[in-house]
Formats: sequence, structure tokens, C-alpha cells
Amino acid sequence: MKNCKVGILGTGVISRTYAGDIKQFYKKLEIDACADINKDAASKLSSEYGIPRVLSVDEILNDPSIDIIINLTPPQFHVELSKKILNAGKHLFSEKPFAANLEDARSILELAKEKNLFVGCAPDTFLSSGLQSVRHYLDDNLIGKPFFVTANMTTFGVETWHRNPRAFYMKTAGPIYDMAPYYISAIVSLLGPIDSITALSCKGQEVRHIYVGPDEGKELVPETDTHYSAVMRLKSGAVVNLNVSFDIYRSNLPMFEIYGSDGTLTYPDPNFGGGSPKIYRKEQFTDTVYNKSEDAVKRSESFVTLPELFPRVKDYSRGIGVLDLADAIEKGRTPRTSGDFILHVTEALEGIIKSADNNETYKMTTTCERPEPIKPGTDLGEI
Ligand SMILES: NC(=O)c1ccc[n+]([C@@H]2O[C@H](COP(=O)([O-])OP(=O)(O)OC[C@H]3O[C@@H](n4cnc5c(N)ncnc54)[C@H](O)[C@@H]3O)[C@@H](O)[C@H]2O)c1
Repeated sequence: MKNCKVGILGTGVISRTYAGDIKQFYKKLEIDACADINKDAASKLSSEYGIPRVLSVDEILNDPSIDIIINLTPPQFHVELSKKILNAGKHLFSEKPFAANLEDARSILELAKEKNLFVGCAPDTFLSSGLQSVRHYLDDNLIGKPFFVTANMTTFGVETWHRNPRAFYMKTAGPIYDMAPYYISAIVSLLGPIDSITALSCKGQEVRHIYVGPDEGKELVPETDTHYSAVMRLKSGAVVNLNVSFDIYRSNLPMFEIYGSDGTLTYPDPNFGGGSPKIYRKEQFTDTVYNKSEDAVKRSESFVTLPELFPRVKDYSRGIGVLDLADAIEKGRTPRTSGDFILHVTEALEGIIKSADNNETYKMTTTCERPEPIKPGTDLGEI
């Protein structure tokens, strides 16, 4: 793969993870410039991570040497800026959520098609070592036919650590747009598309206290509900129970477990890139019927850790999706976050909210193929 010049638009919290990880692990991506509506923020990122040029928003859009712009602005600006990036003739990689509704997502993808440009989108965590390993173990039939998934994203919001928490409670964010993309993209990439969604929602707190940043000590009133519980039917027939919350201080629920006809696969957290899958096979359970030895009973009690099949760059990492996009551009292939995949994940997010708001089951109108898996043994920096 040839080197590809990348620009970062929006130089806040997550830009540091992108800049650091791309520099350290994805050397074929060259971060050539960064820009932010606040030029000091861009200068700070540039000096911290050795990014050669600090540009204005207009300058980065119109810079002839940049191939891909990574849109790391807050969610409420994604659609407008993603369209500006494409209208300026640049390939786009957008942070999540790609858009808050199917119509907006479609309009961005249609623009890209019209301009002959490529689009990729976060979350890219499903491309990382842990979830790609899970994908291989599922495809190798280690747990037989999956019939049930439980995914539980239980946190207490961002106001204890993020300096600008208000954006996370706007209509364009909330736990569904902010966190569900990790879980939905993991589920769709591992088990295929969703058929229908039934969801309920509520608020754990009407008013939230801001603990850090310029608004420390102030309060904020969420525009969205902050706890969602959804049950989804996949087209494969499997059932998914997804809980996404900004209201839970601590929980013992598993973050991600897949149950199949021959066993259970458990994974630490789809929000992270690393994490060893663990398996519990049916034989561990049934063996004790025939063999009641201490050894058999011991074996029946716990999950077995499986190897990760790829280099685990870091537990919390970003950038592999941008690498996939650059490789897709060079080879003229579809990025793993294909247009159909992006539309399907966007519709699922919108569908959860619509189902909860309207108190009815939401029937999905889009579908997609599972993205191509990455070959085990692929070197770091290749895809
Ligand atoms: N913070 C995280 O841990 C995290 C993790 C994964 C994904 N994300 C996603 O990344 C995106 C950015 O999140 P963040 O936490 O880095 O936000 P942030 O508020 O820390 O940073 C956003 C930056 O964008 C700039 N900006 C705002 N409007 C702009 C505009 N019109 N043009 C150019 N720059 C503009 C702001 O000045 C700010 O520097 C969001 O979509 C979020 O969902 C964040």
C-alpha cells in the first residue's frame, strides 16, 4: 500500500488517540495537517504530535495535497462538515455517529458517489484484533449457530471526565448515538443485518451535574433519554438484547456475550480494540454427565481464553478504519464500512429511538453484507 496524506478536522479529545495511534502503528497514513474552528486547539495538537501544518478549516478543505479528511468534530456538525469535505473533493472518514438519521446518511453517501469519492466511518473497533478474532471463531463454528447476544454498555456519562459534555446530551448524541454504534457495528459485522427492533427508554436523572471543564459545577438537562433497552431480531433469526446507558455507576452485566448451539463466546467490550475472547463449549458442560471427577467438574466451571489472531496494538485505539479506507481507495475496493453497512447501522440507531419514542416495533428497511474479515496473520499496518 502506498502512503496516503491525511488531514484531521476537529482537534479535541479523540484527535489525540487518532494522531498518536496513526503515527505509531499506521505509518502508511501520513498526518499532513490539522484544523479546528479554534486555531489554538489545532496548534496544540500539531505541537504535541508533530503534525507539520496547522490550517484554517477552509484551508484544509481546499489543500491539494490531502487525500482523506478525518472528521472529528462534535456530532451536531458531522453532516454539514462531511458534505463540505466531499464537496472539496476529499475522501471522508467520519467519527460516529455518521449522521443522526437515514436520510442525512444517504445524502452524504449519494454526494460521495456523485463525486467519485470514498467514505469510511467509525467505529473501527470491529476491525481490531479482539473482534476480528471473535469473527474468525464464529465463522469457524466454535459455538455452533448463534441464537442470542447480550450487549451491555453501562456507564455514567461523560461529565466526570470530558471538558465539553453538553454535546453528548444533545438530540444528535445521547447514549444511542454516542455508544450504541460500537455495539451495533460489532453485532452486524459478526452476525449480519438486523430485521426489527423493539426498544424502551427512560432517564436515570432529570438533571446532571458537570464535574470538570469550563462548566464545572453547573448543571445540564439532557435533550435525550439516557437509558435505552432494545431487543432486536437479526435476519439470521438470532435475538439480541442491547442495553445502552449513561445512568449506571457500575454493573455486573457482561458487556458482550454470544450464545450458540454449541457454546458461548464472551468478549470484554466492543468499545475497545483489544481484548481476548473466551469460550465455554458444550462439552465442558455435558462431560460432567459421564465423568464426575474433580478434574471434569473443574473444567465445567470456567470459560477458556482464546488467542487473539492479530497484533493487539492497544486496548483503546483508533485509526485502523482510516487505514482500511486508504487501502480501499488505492485498490478501488469497497471499504469495510461500506455505504450499505453505514446506512444499516445508522438506521438501527434511528430505529431504536423511533421504537422507544413511538412504543412500537421498528422494521428495518436497509440491509447489508457482513464486512470482509481481515486475514489472521496480517501484519501491523497492513489490512
Ligand atoms: N472523546 C472520546 O473519547 C471519543 C471517542 C470516540 C469517538 N468520539 C467522537 O469523536 C467526535 C469528537 O469528539 P471529541 O470528544 O474529540 O470532541 P471535542 O469536543 O473534544 O472536540 C471537538 C473539536 O471540534 C472542534 N469543532 C467544533 N466545531 C467545529 C467546526 N465547525 N469546524 C471545525 N472544528 C470544529 C472543536 O473546537 C473541538 O476542538 C465526536 O463525534 C465523538 O462522538 C469521541
